[in-house]
Amino acid sequence: MKTEYVKVDLENLDRTILRKAGDLLRQGEIVAFPTETVYGLGANALDPVAVKKIFFAKGRPNDNPLIVHVADLAQLVPLVREIPEKARALMNKFWPGPLTLIFPKSPLVPGEVTAGLPTVAVRMPGHPVALALIKEAGVPIAAPSANISGLPSPTEGKDVLADLDGKVPLIIDGGETKVGLESTVVDVTVEPPLILRPGGITLEEIADTIGQAAFDPGLSQNETPRSPGMKYTHYSPRADVIIVEGQEHEMAGKVISAFRRLAGGGKKVALLLSEETGREIQGRVTPCYFEILGSKNNLSLVAHRLFSSLRQSDRHGADIILIESFPDQGVGAAVMNRIRKAAGNQVIN
Ligand code: TXA
Ligand code: MG
Repeated sequence: MKTEYVKVDLENLDRTILRKAGDLLRQGEIVAFPTETVYGLGANALDPVAVKKIFFAKGRPNDNPLIVHVADLAQLVPLVREIPEKARALMNKFWPGPLTLIFPKSPLVPGEVTAGLPTVAVRMPGHPVALALIKEAGVPIAAPSANISGLPSPTEGKDVLADLDGKVPLIIDGGETKVGLESTVVDVTVEPPLILRPGGITLEEIADTIGQAAFDPGLSQNETPRSPGMKYTHYSPRADVIIVEGQEHEMAGKVISAFRRLAGGGKKVALLLSEETGREIQGRVTPCYFEILGSKNNLSLVAHRLFSSLRQSDRHGADIILIESFPDQGVGAAVMNRIRKAAGNQVIN
């Protein structure tokens, strides 16, 4: 299949492209598009044949359900059996935005979307292209991240092209995504509501809005996570990822000695560090790729750069990526969740 790749100006949306994308979606085709979290690969959520094309293009296991994207509340209502009170509060506060909610599904939603679950995940994205596209299509859009299954989610159009060229008819490039990590997934059908996947909206913000919330115990213990997607190795670049943990004062020393050991053994090593450690190290070693993700006090910036820096490390031919551990609070919970998954828990301590 020939892939059309189109850049759009967010300030001045190209209606012709949107109309074309809407037509493709209504005809049962798949389209890659930007959201504020990561790029999505969309299909008409009400068309099981179209939805299957997503799984095929990504190589996604078919027991991993998709998120349905809506442009307004009227589109949500027919998809769900009820809207719990706490869901309403969260929607009022965070939609449109990087928050996905789990609802009891209505019979309208095909089992292909929900992987046979009785629930459906829904999100209203806060991105002009995503919203315009859903409106143009006139149907809710099922969309996982637009990467080959297992790779880091795409945060730039070129990442989508690298993964899906020849597999989708249209990729809309809207520049870098703002958040850089996937949405927070919250199950409000249980008490207390559970965060199934940490994201840009934090546990603290959610608890502030609805009184109480907790992380799904399956995220950290040996239990099965409730979100099927969280059980897979994920977000992994081609290179091996190793986390470097330790106290602030010893971090630079640890990174340098790990780097020398690995590079001495003939490995090409990339370094992804905090601003604090990166400044101390810069110029003292020569990694194949070096990136300062951001300050430990600015974890949103770290989130924004994480996936693109993993992909950049691959582009520079890294065998191993040494990545610094970040504080596990606020947005850091999502950052560390993705880093641990990318590393398959390989740690230098
Ligand atoms: O930010 C995002 O959420 C991006 C953009 C494109 O919107 N989408 C995204 O989709 O990350 P995906 O498919 O890569 O991740 C969806 C996650 C998976 O972990 C999946 O298991 C979970 O949501 N999920 C979907 N439906 C679910 C359900 N009914 N119950 C529990 N988890 C569900
Ligand atoms: Mg994904």
